Amino acid sequence: MKIRDIFEHNEKWIAERLRADPDYFVKLSGPQKPEYLFIGCSDSRVSVESLLGTKPGDVFMHRNIGNVIPSNDLNALSVISYAVNHIRIKHIIVCGHYNCGGVKAAMTARDEGLLNPWLRHIRDVYRIHRNELNSIDTPGRRFDRLVELNVVEQCINIVKTRDVQKALLEKRISLHGWVFDLRTGRLIDLKINLEKIMDEIMDVYNLFE
Ligand code: CO
Repeated sequence: MKIRDIFEHNEKWIAERLRADPDYFVKLSGPQKPEYLFIGCSDSRVSVESLLGTKPGDVFMHRNIGNVIPSNDLNALSVISYAVNHIRIKHIIVCGHYNCGGVKAAMTARDEGLLNPWLRHIRDVYRIHRNELNSIDTPGRRFDRLVELNVVEQCINIVKTRDVQKALLEKRISLHGWVFDLRTGRLIDLKINLEKIMDEIMDVYNLFE
C-alpha cells in the first residue's frame, strides 16, 4: 500500500461515512466515552478494531512491544490512570498474541541493544515461571505459554498500580487477560482468576488498608 493510496482511501472513507450518516463526524468529534481500555502489542498483524468488531470511540488503547506494563513507564501508567480516573472505562483488557516477536526475542540469548531493558521485562516473566516453562518439551508450546504467562504477569503489574487497586476496591472495573491467535484468528480468554491472584499477592502489594 502506497502513501497516496492511504489518502485516497481516506477520501472514500469520509464519503462513505457521510453517506451513511451526515452527522457522523459531528458525533465523532464529541466527547469520547469508551468502556474498554485495550493494552496490546504493537505488532502490525494485530488489527484491534477488526479483531474486536469495535468502532471509533469504543476502545481506548495502549500498545507497545510485548504488551508490557513496567512500574516506571510513565507512558503506560498515564494511559491507565487517565482511562480509569477520567474516562472511567469499565474493562481493562491485556491482549497478547501468539508468534509475538517481542516474546520470541526475550526467549533468545542475544544482544538486542537498546531493546535489552525492554525485553528484560519479559525475560523476568520467564524467570518467575521457569519451572513450568522448562518442563514444556515442545519449543512452540513453550513460546505460546510464555505469551500467555506474560499476559497474566502484566495483569498483575496493572493490579499493583494505585489507580487500578482503588477502582477494583470500588468494584467499578474488571480486568481481562486475552490472547489473539494469529494462526486461527481466534481471541482466547485466559480466564484469569483475579480474586485468586489478589489473594496471593495483595499482602505484598496492597496500597490501601
Ligand atoms: Co507482539
